[in-house]
Amino acid sequence: MDSDARASTPPLLEGPPNNATAGLTPLELRLQAIVMAGREQGADLEREDLRLSPGQTPSPAALVEWVTMAGLWCRAVRTNWRALLKLTAAGSVVLLMKDGSAALMTRPDAVRNVVWLKDPSVQTEQDGIPVDELRLSQLWSGEILLIRPDRQGRVDNDPWNFMWLARVVLAERSIIRDITLGSIVMAFLSVVPPLLTMIVIDKVVGYKVLSTLVMVSAVLVLAMIYETVLGYVRRQLTAVIALRLDLKMSLFIFRRLLGLSIDYFERTPTGQIGYLIGQSQKVRSFVTGKMMSTIFDLVNLIVVLPLLFWMSTTLAWMVLALGIVMAMIIALFIGPVRRVYARYQEAEIKKGTILVETLHGIRTIKSLALEPAQRDAWDRRAAEAAHWRRKLDDISNWPETLVTPIDMLITRGVLMVGAYLSISGDATSVGSIMAFMMVSGRVSGPLTSMAKLLQDLEEVRAGIGMVGVVLNNRPEVTNTATGLRPRFEGAISFRDVKFSYPGTKARALDGISFDVPPGTILGVVGRSGSGKSTVTRLLQGINREYEGQIKIDGVDLREINLGHLRRSFGVVLQENFLFRGSIRENLLAGRTGLTLIDAVRAARLAGAEEFIERMPMGYETIVEEGSPNLSGGQRQRLAIARALIHDPRLLILDEATSALDPESEALVNANISRIAANRTMVIISHRLSSLVDSDQILVLDRGKVMDIGPHAQLLETCTVYRQLWQQQNRHMETFRSTKKSTSLVPGN
Ligand SMILES: Nc1ncnc2c1ncn2[C@@H]1O[C@H](COP(=O)(O)OP(=O)(O)OP(=O)(O)O)[C@@H](O)[C@H]1O
Ligand SMILES: [Mg+2]
Repeated sequence: MDSDARASTPPLLEGPPNNATAGLTPLELRLQAIVMAGREQGADLEREDLRLSPGQTPSPAALVEWVTMAGLWCRAVRTNWRALLKLTAAGSVVLLMKDGSAALMTRPDAVRNVVWLKDPSVQTEQDGIPVDELRLSQLWSGEILLIRPDRQGRVDNDPWNFMWLARVVLAERSIIRDITLGSIVMAFLSVVPPLLTMIVIDKVVGYKVLSTLVMVSAVLVLAMIYETVLGYVRRQLTAVIALRLDLKMSLFIFRRLLGLSIDYFERTPTGQIGYLIGQSQKVRSFVTGKMMSTIFDLVNLIVVLPLLFWMSTTLAWMVLALGIVMAMIIALFIGPVRRVYARYQEAEIKKGTILVETLHGIRTIKSLALEPAQRDAWDRRAAEAAHWRRKLDDISNWPETLVTPIDMLITRGVLMVGAYLSISGDATSVGSIMAFMMVSGRVSGPLTSMAKLLQDLEEVRAGIGMVGVVLNNRPEVTNTATGLRPRFEGAISFRDVKFSYPGTKARALDGISFDVPPGTILGVVGRSGSGKSTVTRLLQGINREYEGQIKIDGVDLREINLGHLRRSFGVVLQENFLFRGSIRENLLAGRTGLTLIDAVRAARLAGAEEFIERMPMGYETIVEEGSPNLSGGQRQRLAIARALIHDPRLLILDEATSALDPESEALVNANISRIAANRTMVIISHRLSSLVDSDQILVLDRGKVMDIGPHAQLLETCTVYRQLWQQQNRHMETFRSTKKSTSLVPGN
């Protein structure tokens, strides 16, 4: 889209042009209208967030994604004039125009048959300008964007618990209602065969009436067909509801999981998180299985019980009483079963943790020959889990055993007592005894399954609790919708920053203060554990609970939009995770708008170009999981290239070159000055020699700043630095002194 295109389109609204926006392309107008709409709904949209490929107009879907990223709710809808007039729901409406621009609808006016529009390029009154159907039809593409605050987002912040689940289930109430209705009909139909059996035995067999038999048969067939169809429909509905609940749960869980702050993941073993989250499976299968079947059972019970009492009060009381005894036996065992179950769960978690740990550390385990130790640990955990499983089976065997005779008593007892009643002159007919026997199973079944439901509910409660242990941790405050998104220059300032990691007492940083201007190469040195990495973690907003002040370009870190902050950094660590995929994909790392050219540029800067091009498939070479087809040095250079791909203003290298061989290290170091052009770099390194050329070197010791300054100055003024330097360069000193003393050639 260029200005020619704009010149050919008639201006939407007459009015004095807005100086700030005059002469914009339709695309820019469209984006501006959306930004205005976003602001109306309380969020700042950032152009950087828009996935915009060069030369392409963003699709409505891309626009929706853009708005959603700012924490708003947004939908693109194709609609018509009449629907537009009725649009009065809260939220902003952006009309997408045919020429690629857009306008904001302030309000529809059905009485005057106009809509009030605001053109972002034109300064207008509060309400904008009325536009009628004919005029609009010439301009409007028929598509609108609906934008409003995200209510779902707030639901996402609700704690994960029974209430959440209940709400999600209840959201499907229309389907549940249909299922319940279907179940009621089926329950009624299912009593037809026993009733007909009664009739057949009493009337047909007793009096030998053929016509009755024919009619009874016809009804039976009809009932059969109905039941089959209903069963089909009910299973379909159940499948639909199961799918929807399943999807909702898994989306929610994964979103919440990603939203947790990193220190939770650092504090908690991966295996444990994996196992706990895995428990959601139990919740899922309950909601979609047991819960549904309980609805059917309950309906059945309600329908069948009156029928039983109608057929024979005595027998009905007998069945009901026995059924209740069964339920009570099962209920009695719930407590003990729950206790053993909890122990079993605990053992399973421990076992799962070992498994994941082993898989994660398999290289270390193999190379240190730790297999026996690991196997021992596994055996012990497995034995413990087996022990509790055995106990669990033992104890759950009891209620089942005790219930069996009662269950039999119900069916056989009905026959005996029924026969006795019949003999002793009661009105009970043989047919009704038969029918009774057929139906009575439907009472004890639901009663016991409802008692078992209590136990299932326990398990689900435990499952929800376990998933909640993970999900209900405090999520990161991302201030997605708000927060500043400054364009960084790269000045960093720490003012009396104190910080302890959660759960530790010792201060990792103890009153750190320093300032560096934009474009600085800042070396950070210090003994292991002195707080170097912590400084960079705070800078990236990975840990947020510090005291004091950190500023980038004079803006307090806490006020900056977290996503924006992290995107602005390039980070290379000692160990870097490469994803499965091609080298190109790994370099681009899902950032849109970047191309192979960017990948090549970044690779060249990182000194990776040479080895990538020697690979058989070049940039399309697939990196395997754990990247065994790359050497450590190659992996590291890829990581550096990946960090450089979006040309960040701030780059952090935390021991990024310590795993490199001297040659690759020299390659990267030689590029440092080129890499550093136009950005602030924080380089942590144990090898002081690679920091000699830094503009500033920050010396840390036990969380305190010892000194900051260039290499030469530090050698003079800072004892810690001098010691570190001497430790690393002792051989140089001795080398120099031996050279001096043994030198025979003058001038050497
Ligand atoms: N995730 C964490 N949880 C708890 N304590 C931590 C965590 N990470 C670091 N620490 C502690 O904080 C202190 C500073 O750690 P930091 O990682 O910043 O040191 P460092 O200077 O980077 O060390 P190294 O040179 O070994 O990488 C250490 O005492 C360490 O024990
Ligand atoms: Mg470190």
